[in-house]
Amino acid sequence: MKIFVTGGAGYIGSHVVYHLLKKGHQVTVFDDMSTGTKKNIFPEVKFIKGNILNQKKLSEAMIGGYDAVMHFAAKKDVGESMENPNLYSENNITGTINVLKAMEERNIKKIIFSSSAAVYGIPEKLPVTLKSELNPNNYYGYTKLDVERIFEWLSKLGKIQYAALRYFNAGGYDPSGKVRGLEKNPQNLLPVIMEVATGKRKELLIYGDDYDTKDGSGVRDYIHVTDLADAHIKSLSYLNKNKESLVLNLGSGQGYSVKEVLERSILITKKMIPAKIVARRPGDAAALYTNSKKARKMINYKPKYSDIDTIIKTMWEVYK
Ligand SMILES: NC(=O)c1ccc[n+]([C@@H]2O[C@H](COP(=O)([O-])OP(=O)(O)OC[C@H]3O[C@@H](n4cnc5c(N)ncnc54)[C@H](O)[C@@H]3O)[C@@H](O)[C@H]2O)c1
Repeated sequence: MKIFVTGGAGYIGSHVVYHLLKKGHQVTVFDDMSTGTKKNIFPEVKFIKGNILNQKKLSEAMIGGYDAVMHFAAKKDVGESMENPNLYSENNITGTINVLKAMEERNIKKIIFSSSAAVYGIPEKLPVTLKSELNPNNYYGYTKLDVERIFEWLSKLGKIQYAALRYFNAGGYDPSGKVRGLEKNPQNLLPVIMEVATGKRKELLIYGDDYDTKDGSGVRDYIHVTDLADAHIKSLSYLNKNKESLVLNLGSGQGYSVKEVLERSILITKKMIPAKIVARRPGDAAALYTNSKKARKMINYKPKYSDIDTIIKTMWEVYK
């Protein structure tokens, strides 16, 4: 198939592109390189440097008979979204509307979208399921939910067929070492730990150790990026075989605390990883994990690499 990938030079997009190529698909990557890296652009892809906010360029780039779009391009820094919400409305909401308009012009009906666990906010009950309340408590999460609602409507109106994949915390790197681009100025726990282990950052900040969790630090569900890539390939097949759209939670089913992840990282990297406890960040949930039950049922989702040690080991292989 011919797949158009926005944000394919980024961390998750590049892993998915690698798997699409392995399966024999033809891939075009459209990326403005704001956080993507050249290292992530494989020689086999057609690369177009462009911003999804440039409607004309985006629409021209989509000429060529694409079968589906995978839409990763977005801003994802939760803290920044609270300080500069307009930037997030523009990039994540207007940008996605532009993608949808270009798809309509080029008669492309299928889209797979990177949504997030952030659409749930602070859950009342764990594990999070698709029945949990959608109540984002940061602006980033709101932009993802807003876009999902647009998709839901367009799908009802028969305009598109979509998969909204709500990732929990992505981590790890391709176990065969084929994807090696490092994230620019990452904010998530795992790449930050890696940067401290390599000496690029001074210390890890642990935001709060007085939560009602096993050791007081926040608990999250870490999902290996290769398992995420596999879920994208399977979701694409699902959209091809069925007429309906798909909304899925993608996690490993297991919660690890920040302190546990830090401990495992020290053991695996054999490096000093200095850490400092600081105040809680407003809007952080104590714990967030999912059972991905529907994903297991609908697309036969079976995470293979998502145990915390494999996630850390495959990351360290690249960062060290
Ligand atoms: N990393 C996670 O744990 C996680 C969790 C949930 C959801 N997501 C979502 O997954 C997607 C990919 O995340 P990632 O971790 O790979 O981030 P990333 O920053 O590595 O990748 C985003 C890519 O999109 C490109 N981009 C951004 N704005 C653009 C624009 N306006 N026009 C064209 N290209 C643009 C960037 O250059 C980059 O290559 C995002 O939509 C993010 O919100 C990520």
